[in-house]
Amino acid sequence: MKRLISWSMKMFSKFLHPLIKLLTSLVKGVDFYRQVKLDFVARPDDIFLVTYPRSGTTWTQMILYQLSSNGNTDFTHISRIFPYFERSLMFNTITVADLDKLPSPRIFKSHLPYDYIPKGAGKYIYIARNGQDVAVSYYHFHRTHLGFKGDFDEFFNLFLKGKVLYRSWFAHINGWLVHKDSPNVLFLWYEDMLKDSEKYIRKIADFCEFQIEPEQWPEILKRTTFDFMKKHAKQFDPITERLLDDGLIQDAFFRQGKAGEGKQCLTAEQKILFQKNFDKYIDV
Ligand code: A3P
Repeated sequence: MKRLISWSMKMFSKFLHPLIKLLTSLVKGVDFYRQVKLDFVARPDDIFLVTYPRSGTTWTQMILYQLSSNGNTDFTHISRIFPYFERSLMFNTITVADLDKLPSPRIFKSHLPYDYIPKGAGKYIYIARNGQDVAVSYYHFHRTHLGFKGDFDEFFNLFLKGKVLYRSWFAHINGWLVHKDSPNVLFLWYEDMLKDSEKYIRKIADFCEFQIEPEQWPEILKRTTFDFMKKHAKQFDPITERLLDDGLIQDAFFRQGKAGEGKQCLTAEQKILFQKNFDKYIDV
């Protein structure tokens, strides 16, 4: 009898799981469509930084941050400055109303294909990267950040079929390439940026109409190097973003390792309540 009940429960949850998954993604999809296509109001000075993942997004975010601010590095995570457009809306870490309150120019990070990105008079910076290099970088990202357990060959086949997060690299690039000469699109290659960073950082500044004083350049160029950003990796790593979204704090596990803090921190009332419970439950 126990076995029969256990089997029925197993079958029930087997049936329920995919159904819940399907309904959840349906609700998320409908919500997302409503927010992006109906509620979101684009501004003429919005800047969308768009890429297929692993194409230099974070680097360009830092470039935009350095160009549009006084360039300090006091932020907890770059996503707190430039929202990750679709992720924050999909996971409800930000609402369209919150986005409405942001000062201009708003700068958004997005991996959305051309057809999905909100259209307006704003500017769009698209960074493309060699697809084979993207595949390798994305494979490592899937293993370190998305729990992928397979080998590169397995991943590469999924990548070719577009069965990875953000789907086909080919379709993504192609969708944006068609619009590369539009006046409000700046289409750049990661490899060109690597070869001559300063030239392309200046191109981005000109495109966004940021006024940069000559004395600001050395610091901007220094802070956007790979070495500088790697030193501040936590402020750019999506793992930090997820922890912050969940309200978790890093480096807080080891605190003081000292005795007597309870005596200092508890109020007289809390100490009495504690003692009452102690007397009630501990009788040895
Ligand atoms: P690799 O995995 O090949 O090292 P994204 O931000 O779109 O996810 O892109 C990540 C890729 O950009 C990674 O490539 C990362 O090392 C590289 N990258 C990040 N900051 C960079 C910088 N300042 N200069 C050059 N490449 C950078």
